[in-house]
Amino acid sequence: MDQCLHCRGLQRLCRFLLLQKFSSQSNFDRKMYHYGTFPEGFSWGISSSAYQIEGGWNADGKGPSIWDTFTQTTNTIPDNANGNVACDSYNRLNEDLYMLRALRVKSYRFSLSWSRIFPDGTRKSLNQKGVDYYNRLIDGLIAHNIEPMVTLYHWDLPEALQKVNGWESAEMIDIFNDYCDFCFATFGDRVKFWITINQPQTIAWSGYGLGNMPPNVKDPGYGPYIVAHNLIKAHAKAYHTYDDKYRQSQGGLISIALNADWAEPKDVSVRREVVAADRAMQFQLGWFAHPIFKNGDYPDALKWQVGNKSEIQGLPQSRLPSFTEEEKNFIKGTADVFCVNHYTTKIVSHVTARLSPASYEYDWDFKEEEENDSPTTAIPNQKVVAWGLRRLLNWIKEEYGDPEIYITENGVATEAQTTWDDSARVFFYKAYIDEALKAYKVDGVTVKGYTATSLMDSFEWLNGYNVGFGLHHVDFSNPNRSRTPKYSAHFYYNIIKDNGFPLRVEICSHSSPNLQ
Ligand code: NOJ
Repeated sequence: MDQCLHCRGLQRLCRFLLLQKFSSQSNFDRKMYHYGTFPEGFSWGISSSAYQIEGGWNADGKGPSIWDTFTQTTNTIPDNANGNVACDSYNRLNEDLYMLRALRVKSYRFSLSWSRIFPDGTRKSLNQKGVDYYNRLIDGLIAHNIEPMVTLYHWDLPEALQKVNGWESAEMIDIFNDYCDFCFATFGDRVKFWITINQPQTIAWSGYGLGNMPPNVKDPGYGPYIVAHNLIKAHAKAYHTYDDKYRQSQGGLISIALNADWAEPKDVSVRREVVAADRAMQFQLGWFAHPIFKNGDYPDALKWQVGNKSEIQGLPQSRLPSFTEEEKNFIKGTADVFCVNHYTTKIVSHVTARLSPASYEYDWDFKEEEENDSPTTAIPNQKVVAWGLRRLLNWIKEEYGDPEIYITENGVATEAQTTWDDSARVFFYKAYIDEALKAYKVDGVTVKGYTATSLMDSFEWLNGYNVGFGLHHVDFSNPNRSRTPKYSAHFYYNIIKDNGFPLRVEICSHSSPNLQ
C-alpha cells in the first residue's frame, strides 16, 4: 500500500531537516578529520569488472558482448582502445589473487562475463571453460579467506541478445533469470554475496537514451524508461529465484548496485532548490531504489514530472510505464542490503527545461553544476567532494528506513601515466573513507562495507586507457601486463589493517635512564 500523505509529508520534512543540519555546517566543519574505527567484521573490499580486466575476448569459446562489438567497430574511444586483452586477467588469475592477498582485503567484487558462460546468452550454449575460469577464481579467493562479491551483469550483454533488442525487450526478464539461476546453482555454494545488475541507471540512460554507450540506442524520451522497467523486473525475478530456490541451502544475500551522486541544493534556503536537489536524487537513485526498497513503485517525483511533461507533449499516456499491483508486490523488498556506487557531488538548481524533444534529461527540470571548492580529477566532471558521501549515506538512511549499506564502488581517476605516485588518490581515499566513518560513528548510519574502485588500472569504458582508477598500475605496453602497487595500495592496506583511522595516543616515555 502507498504511504498516506501525512507520513509522506513527515518523511519529506525529515529530509529537509537533514539537509539543513548539514548545510549549516561551516566549510571548516565539513572538512574536519574524524578519528575512529569501523565496526568489527567490516567488509573492506576492492572491485573490478569482467570487460574492464579480463581480455580473452574470444578465448576458449567466449561469445562476443555488446562492448566487444562496440569497441571493435567504432572509433569513438581514445586510441581506438578496446578490452580485447585489457589486463589479461583471463590468463593472469594468480597475479590478481596475489594483489588481493597483499592488500589483505576481506572481499573482492568482480563480475561474470555472461557471454563467457553462455556465448549466445542462453543456457543451451554453455561454455564449460568459462565456468572453469570463474571456479578457479572463486576457489582461489576462498582459499585465502577473501569473500567473493559477484556481480552477475556489469554492462557486457551478450551480443546475441542485443540482436533480439536487448533490454528494450521484456523477454530479457526470463532470459536473465535463467542465466542467474545457472550462476546461483553453479557458484552459490561458495558465493554468498550477489549483485544482480551494476548501475542500471547508466545502462538505461547511456545505453538506450544518450546512446553513447553500447548498444548505442538514441531514444532519450522512451528508451531509458522502457529499459529501466525491464531491468527492475529482471532484478526482482532473479531475487525471487534466489530466495525461493537457493537462499535456504546457500544462505547468501542478494542486492543490486545503484549509482548515486550526492545532489547538493545550490541554495539551501530556497525551497525550490531543495526540492530540485531532492528530485535529482529521485531521478538517479530513487528511480530504482524506490520500487525495490520502498513500495514497488516509482517515486512521486518521477511520476509527476514525466506524467506532466507527457501530457503537455500531447501524448495519450505517460512515457513512464506503470507497474500493476501484482508487479509492485513482486518488486517491493527485493534486496537484502543497500549497495551504492558513489563518485562525486553535483550542485543542483531548478530550471524549467525544454519540452521537445522528449527526453529523460528534460524531464528533470533541474541542472547540475560542479562544486567550486573541490579538487578536479582526471575526469573533469568527477570532482573530489568527500563530504557529499556522508550526506548521501544519511539520505539513504532516512529515505529507505535505515538499511544496511555497502559502498560497492568509490574511487578516483588519475592520468594513465601515474605509475606509483598517486598521492591524489591517497588524499581521495583518506577523505572519502573518513566521511563514511563520520556517517557510521557520528550519524548512526548502518555502513557495513566499503569497496575501493579499482583493483588495478583497466579499460575505463569511454575513456579507454587514458585514465586509471587502479590502486595498482598496469603496464599496457608490456605483453605481461605487469602490475605495480601505487602509494594508494599501501595506504588502503593500512586503513584495512587499522579498520579505519584510530587515534594514536603517543605515550611519552621519559623513563629514568638505567644508570649502571
Ligand atoms: C562505474 C562503473 O561501474 C565502473 O565499471 C567504472 O570503472 C567506474 N564507474 C568508473 O568510471
